[in-house]
Amino acid sequence: MTPHIGAKPGDIAETVLMPGDPRRARWATETFLENPVCVNEVRGMLGFTGTWKGNRVTIHGSGMGMPSLSIYANELIREYGARTLIRIGSAGAMLERVKIRDIVIAMTASTMSTPSRGFFRDMQFAPCADYGLLEKAVAAARAKGTPTHVGGIYSADVFYDERPDLNEVLARHGTLCVEMEAAELYTVAARLGARALAVLTISDHLITHEALPAEDRERSFGDMVEIALEAAFA
Ligand code: ADE
Repeated sequence: MTPHIGAKPGDIAETVLMPGDPRRARWATETFLENPVCVNEVRGMLGFTGTWKGNRVTIHGSGMGMPSLSIYANELIREYGARTLIRIGSAGAMLERVKIRDIVIAMTASTMSTPSRGFFRDMQFAPCADYGLLEKAVAAARAKGTPTHVGGIYSADVFYDERPDLNEVLARHGTLCVEMEAAELYTVAARLGARALAVLTISDHLITHEALPAEDRERSFGDMVEIALEAAFA
C-alpha cells in the first residue's frame, strides 16, 4: 500500500490507463475488461485490474490537474511497477480545424509549470510521448476512421483561465488543445523509466464554444479507450 493507493503488491498491471474521473475508470472497466477486480478506492479514486484480449491491464483514475496525477503516476511506477501509462481524457480544442469528438494524440505538452518544475530549476524540459506507443495509437485511430490529430498540446494549471491571450499565442504555435495532466505524466514517466502517452477526446471548443452533448460522451470516450488499449498491446 502507498499513501494514496490501497492495492496490494501485484494487484496493479504493468499497463495502466488513467482517466481523470474515477467513475470513468469504472465505466471503461465494465465496458472493456474481463474479470475486473477493484484494487483501489482510497479517497474515492477508483482503480480496477482485469484483462483485455488476454492482456492484464489496470484502469486507475488520476484526478484532475498535474499535482493529483503526479501522486498517482509516481506511486504506480515506483511502488507497483507500472511501466506503460496512458492518459485517456477530455480536452478543449484550440484550433478551428480540431473539432468536437476528434481524437488528439499528444506528441508533447507545453506547460507554464508542473510539479516537476522545482526539480528542473532553470531548465525547460520538453515532455515527450513514447514514440512506440504514439505510432501504435495513431495506427489504431486511423484504422477506426476517427478524425485524429497528432501534435503538441497545452497542459494548463487552471481551468478558469485569466490569460486567454496565452491561449491565442499557443494556438499560433500550432497547439491543438488544452487539458491539465499530460505534461506531468510525460515528465514523471521519463524520470522513472516508464512509457507514457496521452490519447484525448475533444469535449469542448475554445473558439466556437461548442461542447460534446452528454449523450455522445460515452461513444466518443469508448473510441479513445480502445485506441489506448490497442496502442498498449498491438
Ligand atoms: N479538459 C477538457 N476541456 C478543457 C478545457 N477547456 N480546459 C482545460 N482542461 C480541459
